[in-house]
Amino acid sequence: MTIDTDKRLIGLIGNPIAHSISPSIHNTLYTAFDMNYIYMAFAVDEDNLETAINGMVALSFRGFNVTIPYKQKILGFLDDLDNEAGLIGAVNTVKIENGRLKGYNTDGIGFIKGLERLGFIPKGKKVAVIGAGGASRAICVYLLKEGVSRIYILNRTYERGSDLAQELNGHYKSDVVIPIDRKELDKLDLDLIVNTTPVGMWPNEGVNPLENFIFNPYTVVVDIIYNPPQTKFLQMAKRQGCTVQNGLDMLIGQALASIKIWTGKDIFYTDCKKILKNIHFVD
Ligand code: ATR
Repeated sequence: MTIDTDKRLIGLIGNPIAHSISPSIHNTLYTAFDMNYIYMAFAVDEDNLETAINGMVALSFRGFNVTIPYKQKILGFLDDLDNEAGLIGAVNTVKIENGRLKGYNTDGIGFIKGLERLGFIPKGKKVAVIGAGGASRAICVYLLKEGVSRIYILNRTYERGSDLAQELNGHYKSDVVIPIDRKELDKLDLDLIVNTTPVGMWPNEGVNPLENFIFNPYTVVVDIIYNPPQTKFLQMAKRQGCTVQNGLDMLIGQALASIKIWTGKDIFYTDCKKILKNIHFVD
């Protein structure tokens, strides 16, 4: 890699960030596609958040990603906000242009890109989403944007799922989003089921958000967890004949969507897995 005065910096801020594979994904792609960018991760204390952001502006960073625990706090530092990011209520990508900061959320776009890789077209489809947290919100907003016919939200805390459904239906003036309980899920005929909860994630790999569920073999099943690559949930769905996908496709998809925002460059999804094959967790 050549470091010259034209090289532009892109940051990642969060705390902790040591576990992140985003620097590996981004820097590998920038090298492979001959892009003069470098991606650096910074663990930032909350007391230093504003100083860190001002520092990135002063140093002409092209932008930065934001991760836990600042995806909501960052909203207070932005000059402009993308519509969907506003609805999701969280930002994971910031573009810096002429000293102004605009926030986006590429998690939902990343998820849709992952579905594209499976050849799954969301329009008109019936989907169940497990969980009602930040990841669920991002995925639901983009599924609605893609024109799904139903989203059933199954959440441990029913109320929270119900609040999310109400908010999204209110925004889109529709009744597409429906909160359900586990008994109702068992009766549904679904095209897609997505787990957005951390249930089954390392180091608690032994648990499954849908114990003893009987899948239709034509239901596509996605878990946004990528560590382990095959959660108990995905193993169970695969055994029953379903097409399954883990969270790596969404992770790569959101990285590509952020790159498009910062640099304008479209990178083909199909080229990426080969390029990224040496990165931990990429199979
Ligand atoms: P994120 O931003 O990563 O989506 P979050 O906002 O904390 O994280 O949301 C986590 C989601 O996983 C929530 O839907 C949560 O359910 P509650 O609303 O009942 O808290 C769900 N979740 C977390 N741990 C869970 C568990 N052990 N069993 C079932 N659901 C769980």
